[in-house]
Amino acid sequence: MNPIFADLPTTVFEAMSRLARETGAVNLGQGFPDDPGPEDVRRKAAEAVVHGWNQYPPMMGLPELRAAVAAHYRHWQGLALDPETEVMVTSGATEALAGALLALIEPGDEVVLFEPMYDAYLPLVRRAGGVPRFVTLSPPAFRLTEEALARAFSAKTRAVLFNNPLNPTATIFQAEDLALLADFCRRFDAVAVCDEVWEHVVFDGARHQPVIGLPGMRERTVKIGSAGKIFNLTGWKVGFVCAAPAMMKVLAKAHQFLTFTTPPNLQAAVAYGLAKDDGYFECLRRDLARSRDRFTAGLRSLGFDVIPSQGTYFLNIDIAPLGDTDDAAFCHRLVVDHGVAAIPVSAFYANGAVRNVVRFCFAKRDATLDSALERLAGVVKRTA
Ligand SMILES: Cc1ncc(COP(=O)(O)O)c(C=O)c1O
Repeated sequence: MNPIFADLPTTVFEAMSRLARETGAVNLGQGFPDDPGPEDVRRKAAEAVVHGWNQYPPMMGLPELRAAVAAHYRHWQGLALDPETEVMVTSGATEALAGALLALIEPGDEVVLFEPMYDAYLPLVRRAGGVPRFVTLSPPAFRLTEEALARAFSAKTRAVLFNNPLNPTATIFQAEDLALLADFCRRFDAVAVCDEVWEHVVFDGARHQPVIGLPGMRERTVKIGSAGKIFNLTGWKVGFVCAAPAMMKVLAKAHQFLTFTTPPNLQAAVAYGLAKDDGYFECLRRDLARSRDRFTAGLRSLGFDVIPSQGTYFLNIDIAPLGDTDDAAFCHRLVVDHGVAAIPVSAFYANGAVRNVVRFCFAKRDATLDSALERLAGVVKRTA
């Protein structure tokens, strides 16, 4: 069996969710919302199952969804994308990432990864034959620096895999970070594979800046989005890829033999959803920001050091002020002794470089968040 997959240990997400089930803990570990997703979008999917087309849809995606993606990004991000040649529908962002890496990388090519990183990245890069070169980002700001990029890029760099807003840190890269990254991509002739699944989940008036819109990046960026995050429908696995026509042709070949298509009824519903008026997207952000503020205030009142969440539906605490330097052991204690599951952020680093940050998912009902806070009362006193 291939060791890249055979040797992968059980993920911390599975381990924490299992412990949460066994102990009856409140699960703020795995990232999925309590919200069932907009009812009108779900009804559209149901109608499309009953009355619509249920055979193979076109490989590139339903034309109506590709047009909706292009129109959505024109409206929200000022991008001019041709739906015919520059937009493709995939089965979630994960398939889009796998396809992009398979299509772009030749064995031995170097791929720059920014840790902490989403768990799928490293095995997918390795399985595609890529050689990872890490840039380690540090709390609390998790910013890019010229020195760190200079150490990671080389003549062998083929691609960078970049996630913004960044899960698990809940931070948004600033315009200077993006300009720096684009500069390195241009200088080293590298492709930016941009995982922007959290593009709509940004707070405090922030606006998402897509890397594909930066000078000189139009022809060397693969932009990846996900309806799962835009509509709180994580189980749907409907993703979109945007890239210039020449690159898209090759990305489409990889997609052709991975999944070929995505359920047409879900595509039709997502096309409808993307055209919703601004109010829906503003409301999504407002509701999540309210939960973030409620949970942040609760944690702070209990004495936790909260790292402000700028985007995504996660927030992090710094456990170093509690005298704790082992996030995994801390999370184990949290679930077993206090009945709250969280995720140690060291799990998102290839070599566990940072061990003092713990992630919670706050996309939960008030009652769930309040119950978690009740259980967390006393943690600070006991461990400090
Ligand atoms: C950064 C990031 N990329 C990709 C995904 C997966 O997206 P999808 O469910 O559309 O495959 C997630 C889901 O949490 C994510 O946080």
